[in-house]
Amino acid sequence: MDGCVVRHHSVHFMGDLTAQPIIINFHQLFQTRDAPAILPTIRNEDVLRAVVALLDTSLPDVGPRDVHETVHYPGIRTIILSRDHADVLEDYRGRTSRNKGTDVSPVPCKTTDRPNSTLKLLAELYSDSEEDPEETSEETPEVETSNSWSWERFCEGLQEFVEEVRDRKERRAVQGEDGKIPPSAVGVESLIVAAACYEVKLLSTGETVLQLSLLAVRKRHWRLGIGSYIMELLKTQPAVGQYDALVAHVDTDAIGFFKQHEFTDNLLLNDKFKELKDDWTNSILMSYLPPFTTDLEMRNPVFSLSLRELEMDMDMARSQALNAYQQQVMCVTRLLKEVKTLREQIGLQREEVDRLNSKLELEKQKRHDVENRFLMYRLKNAQKLLGSNDSDSDDQEQTDQEHSKPGTEEQEKAQSEEPLIQTPEGAGGC
Ligand SMILES: CC(C)(COP(=O)(O)OP(=O)(O)OC[C@H]1O[C@@H](n2cnc3c(N)ncnc32)[C@H](O)[C@@H]1OP(=O)(O)O)[C@@H](O)C(=O)NCCC(=O)NCCS
Repeated sequence: MDGCVVRHHSVHFMGDLTAQPIIINFHQLFQTRDAPAILPTIRNEDVLRAVVALLDTSLPDVGPRDVHETVHYPGIRTIILSRDHADVLEDYRGRTSRNKGTDVSPVPCKTTDRPNSTLKLLAELYSDSEEDPEETSEETPEVETSNSWSWERFCEGLQEFVEEVRDRKERRAVQGEDGKIPPSAVGVESLIVAAACYEVKLLSTGETVLQLSLLAVRKRHWRLGIGSYIMELLKTQPAVGQYDALVAHVDTDAIGFFKQHEFTDNLLLNDKFKELKDDWTNSILMSYLPPFTTDLEMRNPVFSLSLRELEMDMDMARSQALNAYQQQVMCVTRLLKEVKTLREQIGLQREEVDRLNSKLELEKQKRHDVENRFLMYRLKNAQKLLGSNDSDSDDQEQTDQEHSKPGTEEQEKAQSEEPLIQTPEGAGGC
């Protein structure tokens, strides 16, 4: 067993599919001279290309460059589930004999053109067109530019690799008609069933978190329990290392799958892992908290449950909960007092407003009275003035009348008693 390639026993899935899990650190592997072959007779670079193609086809939102960078990142480990070469060959032979007489899907022609895009080439590897022509990728290719040595090297070899894949596909289609598929017509792209990338990280809080970055099962093999097997492998801590939480940026389409595996999307809890937040699109952060004892430890016959760690954690949780409760009570009590003070202040201000309003009314009344009195005064003066003018003219009139046309005594009296001006108050004078 080598440090950068760890193999586990073969696993049997539904539908008679057997695969072997391998855990690899690609970064370390490519830095090791005479690194062991991940899969017998297959170049390690081609395994990497097939893994990137599978992940990229299954997670189109991520992009081939980011997938490659993730897989190749120093601390990242990749779980690969690979089928046995003989099993796949037998599978193909059986499938072509079953399909005899029916149409075989068209095989892409060999081409010497340069790749029109990395994305298109990668999509071709896992289009699964042999069995299901309508599953081909419809993604619009993007033009990738890169200065990264490993990415350039990855792209350089990709065209050649894709041509080999096309050649194998063509040979399987042609020779499969006689049920004689040669072993060389089965390559790495046919062996790999699933892949997942993870990294063990230390948070600033001191907790260890296993971050699952990418996970994909080849579409042809969905719903056979393969994804669940990888999840169990990640939950089995002796296989991947000790951690306090398992965290993933989950594609929105796969939330149901992760919920089935006891992951939670609880925002308050997951806020704890916010420093792991990434800018993956269409994804949410979900987490799984492991039990204190893993299944594997329980299965060990000499295992005895140690309560010490559990008790320490309980004590810590209790004191933290108590702290949080005390903080909350303090905060609520002070807020209540603040509300009371504010209410009192509002009451006082309301009283002051009422007092000022009644003072204003009083002032208005006073002003009204003064204005009335002033008006009366002016009226009285005007009447006086008019009265003196009238008596002068009356004397003159009387003299005139006496000389010209004498009237009755009552008429003259009535005329002199008529008020001159009517005020609104009806007061003719004081
Ligand atoms: C999500 C994925 C890994 C599941 O792999 P799988 O091998 O099909 O999963 P399993 O066969 O172990 O399924 C286990 C259970 O989950 C359910 N399940 C599987 N995929 C699901 C999904 N996308 N949504 C909801 N439930 C799902 C299955 O029905 C099954 O339930 P059952 O036991 O009641 O029948 C696979 O669909 C995939 O590669 N998807 C594309 C990439 C992706 O979304 N990756 C995850 C985000 S990082």
